[in-house]
Amino acid sequence: MKEETWFETMDGNPQNDWFREQSYFSSPIWFENASGFLDAVKKVCTECVNIEKKQALKKIKSKNDFGYIYQSGGLEKIPDLSQFVEYVGKRSWDFLNNQGFDLANHNLIFKDMWYQEFPKEGGGVQESHAHPNIHVSGFYFIESNDKSTRPVFTDPRAGALMTKLPMKQTSDICHASTNINFIPQPGTMMLFNGYLPHAFPLVSGKEPFKFIHFNLQAVPKGAINVV
Ligand SMILES: [Fe+2]
Repeated sequence: MKEETWFETMDGNPQNDWFREQSYFSSPIWFENASGFLDAVKKVCTECVNIEKKQALKKIKSKNDFGYIYQSGGLEKIPDLSQFVEYVGKRSWDFLNNQGFDLANHNLIFKDMWYQEFPKEGGGVQESHAHPNIHVSGFYFIESNDKSTRPVFTDPRAGALMTKLPMKQTSDICHASTNINFIPQPGTMMLFNGYLPHAFPLVSGKEPFKFIHFNLQAVPKGAINVV
């Protein structure tokens, strides 16, 4: 088959009256200001992670924590965080409801809610991953800045990833994008569907990065008590 270059002569989008472009099967991410919880969350997470840090010292076997991410789980069960937990739960329900999912016969439950603190000596990284059988995943940022690591999301469409062409500008945010990243402001809550792969890349420097990660699952009503 002969290659032709005549497509290049077309000038921009089709001029047809009926032409329109709409996006289907897109992946929403919600961002919102939840900074009212910041003080309470910081206090509880610092207490929890201090216990973890003592334990971690035995594992690290040195004062240098390079590459070691401190994690403290079970936050959804801590009474001092109950208002925050309830808020995350309600907004997660709103997030799915707003997408058109019928939750009349389901309840949302927390599968995980845990604090993560990147190492003081740097080297913190999390490879791209998604959480199996999770419907809403999210972050709540406690400490971060434009030099710390940041959340990076990858196009979740396997077919699209397999057939991507090179981009004209890799910095553009467009249909051709493979990744998107954000510099989170402390106090921001982000919600996204559980299928969306996310990562925290390695960056140079030792800027602090602290956040809560949570995962919620929609379970059929009554299923929890059935064994
Ligand atoms: Fe994750």
